[in-house]
Amino acid sequence: MMGLVLGIETSCDETAASVVDEDFHVLSSVIESSIDQHRAFGGVVPELAGRAHVATIGPVVRRALLDAGLDPLNPTILGIAVTSGPGLIGSLLVGLSAAKAYALAWGVPFVGVNHLEGHLFAPLLERSDLEWPLMTLLVSGGHSLIVLQSGPGEHEVLGETIDDAAGEAYDKVARWLGLGYPGGPEIDHLAQSGVAGSLKLPISMTGDDYDLSFSGLKTAVVRATEKQRDLPIADVAASFQAAVTEQLLRKLRGALEHHPVKGLALAGGVAANSALRAGVTDLAKEFGVVAHLPSMAMCTDNAAMIAAAGTYRLRHDGPSSFDLSATPNWQLADVS
Ligand code: KG4
Ligand code: ZN
Repeated sequence: MMGLVLGIETSCDETAASVVDEDFHVLSSVIESSIDQHRAFGGVVPELAGRAHVATIGPVVRRALLDAGLDPLNPTILGIAVTSGPGLIGSLLVGLSAAKAYALAWGVPFVGVNHLEGHLFAPLLERSDLEWPLMTLLVSGGHSLIVLQSGPGEHEVLGETIDDAAGEAYDKVARWLGLGYPGGPEIDHLAQSGVAGSLKLPISMTGDDYDLSFSGLKTAVVRATEKQRDLPIADVAASFQAAVTEQLLRKLRGALEHHPVKGLALAGGVAANSALRAGVTDLAKEFGVVAHLPSMAMCTDNAAMIAAAGTYRLRHDGPSSFDLSATPNWQLADVS
C-alpha cells in the first residue's frame, strides 16, 4: 500500500489535519486550538471545544490539503485516518463525521484511530532509525501510561495511572497556586528558579508494579502549602515537579530492568517537561539505550501522528465501516 493519508484529530481542544506519506514524511500539519476559550475556566469546556471544532474543521482540512500540494476538492489520497477515541464525545464526533463525509465524497476508505496509539507513532515521524523494542512513557493531560512496544502498532500496556493523569496533576496544582491554564508549562518555568525539596512531599506508588498515581501528591501539595504559607511559589513548583518526575523515573527504571529494550521514548504533552526530558536522557544513558525525545510540536496533540497510526491500521486491519461511532473511553489495551 503506497500513498498519502489525511489525518484528522478533534479529540480535545485541538482541531488538526495533516497529510503524511507512506514513509511517514509529514507533507503538512495544521493545528487550530480553542485553548484561549477555555483558559478562564481552568480546563477544557466540552461544549465550547465541540463548537470550535464545528467552526474550524473545514478550513483546517482544506489548509492541510493545500499545504501538501493537493486539490482540496478532489485530493489524490489513499485514505483518511481519524481519531475515534478516547476523548470528548462531542469533539470526537465532529472529526469522525467529517472524515466519513470526505471519504464518501472522494471515494476513499477511512479508519478510526486510537488517540493514544497516535501518540505512540509520533517518534516514528521524527526518527526513521527507531529500533525495537521500545519503552514509551506516554504522559498527557488525560493519560499516563508506560507502554512496551515490540514494533509499530504492537504494544503492551505495562502500567497506567490509577487516578489523575500527570498533566492533570500539573494543571490542578497550578490552579491551586493561582497560575494560568494549562499549568504544566508555568510550573516547569517557575521550577527553574525554585529549590526542589523545600516542600516535603511523599513519593507515591513505591510498589514494584508499573502503575502510577498523582492525586495523593496533589493533595499533599495543598496540605503542605497551607501549613507553610510563606514558602516561595517557585520552591513549591520545583518540589512538586521533582516529586512527579521521581515517580515517573522510578517506574521507568523498574520497567527497563525487567524488559530489555533498545530505546526509551517520551510522548504526550508532559513530554515537554524539562525535568522529565533531562531525567529520561540520563536514564537512557544508564541503560545504554537510545533516548527519543519528541520535538515540542510532536509532544502535543497533532494530526500527523494520527495519519501515521492510520497508515499502519489501514495496512494491517483495513478500513473502518461507516457504522463506526466514537468511543470516548477507548483503552489502548483494547486496540486490536
Ligand atoms: O498531550 P496534550 O497536549 O493534550 C492531551 O491530550 O492531554 O497534553 C497537555 C498537558 C497539559 O496537562 C499540560 O499542562 C501538560 O501537558 N504540559 C506540561 C508541560 N507542557 C505541557 N506539563 C509539564 N511540563 C510542561 N512543560
Ligand atoms: Zn493527546
